[in-house]
Amino acid sequence: MTEQKATNVTWHDHRVSKEERVALNGHKGAVLWFTGLSGCGKSTVANTVDHLLHQRKAHTFVLDGDNIRMGLNKNLGFSPEDRTENIRRIGEVSKLFAEAGIIVTTAFISPYREDRDKVRELLGEGEFIEIYVKASLETCEARDPKGLYKKARAGEIKGFTGIDAPYEEPENAELVLDSDNKGIDDLAAEVVAYLDEKGYLSA
Ligand code: ADX
Repeated sequence: MTEQKATNVTWHDHRVSKEERVALNGHKGAVLWFTGLSGCGKSTVANTVDHLLHQRKAHTFVLDGDNIRMGLNKNLGFSPEDRTENIRRIGEVSKLFAEAGIIVTTAFISPYREDRDKVRELLGEGEFIEIYVKASLETCEARDPKGLYKKARAGEIKGFTGIDAPYEEPENAELVLDSDNKGIDDLAAEVVAYLDEKGYLSA
């Protein structure tokens, strides 16, 4: 648990309710939490889902690992502690987006089950949708879009997820996407179909 440092702070309730925001937007706010190895396709699927939802006039936004690490989380590296803090901050930011009525997609490796579960606990019932973009290490390493696996194998990057740092697979993900065998468009369509079926895209 991260310690509450500030004293003399008071929580203010918002005057505009969640229900009122849902009514205005015509859909619910939620967090689509994509998790998986580097190179599994998280960011690409997340961005495709975002695009599909945007075309349907939903209010959406993508938070992406590499981008957030160049801004909000630029002071964090890849030690287990820093990854935990990375996910904690993203969890809090995602919660704000969801409260604002937005469907936020996040694309972080988020290798630790406990860290992901803490984000789930932060959010209300049904607001956290864990999506495991499942691809074998072999697939990710063969794709190696950023050449990072090659560097990790050569010992130029230490503590690389899947090589010499762990990835803990989700046990109760709402969705598991088969990224070994299916293309981006099919995987994105599965996510949108899930949202439709569960009523997220209506008020
Ligand atoms: S997380 O583990 O804290 O969730 P995050 O998703 O933010 O990771 O960042 C992962 C991205 O950082 C990878 O896609 C890759 O481009 C880059 N990266 C650099 N070093 C590492 C490393 N040691 N392990 C994993 N990814 C790394």
